[in-house]
Amino acid sequence: MTSHGGFVLWFTGLSGAGKSTLSAALNELFRQRRYNVELLDGDEVRTHLSKGLSFSKEDRDTNVRRIGYVARLLARNGVIAMTAAISPYERIRDEIRGLVQADEVPFVEVYVECPIEVLAERDVKGLYKKALAGEIAGFTGVSDPYEPPRAPELHVRSDRESLEESLGKIVAYLERQGLIGR
Ligand code: ADX
Repeated sequence: MTSHGGFVLWFTGLSGAGKSTLSAALNELFRQRRYNVELLDGDEVRTHLSKGLSFSKEDRDTNVRRIGYVARLLARNGVIAMTAAISPYERIRDEIRGLVQADEVPFVEVYVECPIEVLAERDVKGLYKKALAGEIAGFTGVSDPYEPPRAPELHVRSDRESLEESLGKIVAYLERQGLIGR
């Protein structure tokens, strides 16, 4: 029997790609299985922990580092810490990975990919329309950078896979790694 300690499950991807949906569904699943789990969702973090921060490079880095800091504290105390922020910069994600792994806590990066055309078409929050019209400056994927992870532990495609398929891939990986029980 593997001892199931905490780990960080780090979702990254463009706005609307499905990070929140996937992580919320996993949150529910882990709770049902009686795991200690916390979800640091980008939008929620920005109303509490990171209230007042902008979307400049500097403020995004601060936001993402705060999320990483809290996730690390939780995970090293046995909690499954999930994060769902765009976290657009590879260097910052890798910095957090390094800090988490230095505590001997597993770090699992999940790249939630979806083409910008599909996101602009879906446009659940109506933000892509505004961004493409130039009404929001520095919008990730439109007028601000997004650096996809080069070697994520997991890669899901929300335009090609159903939610269930993506969840299945993530759960199967975590089981294979012995991070959760079967
Ligand atoms: S991050 O870059 O700092 O990781 P975060 O995940 O917290 O971003 O917030 C992203 C959410 O903020 C988006 O889903 C969207 O609803 C909103 N948002 C508002 N302005 C922007 C912007 N300029 N770029 C990206 N997202 C934005």
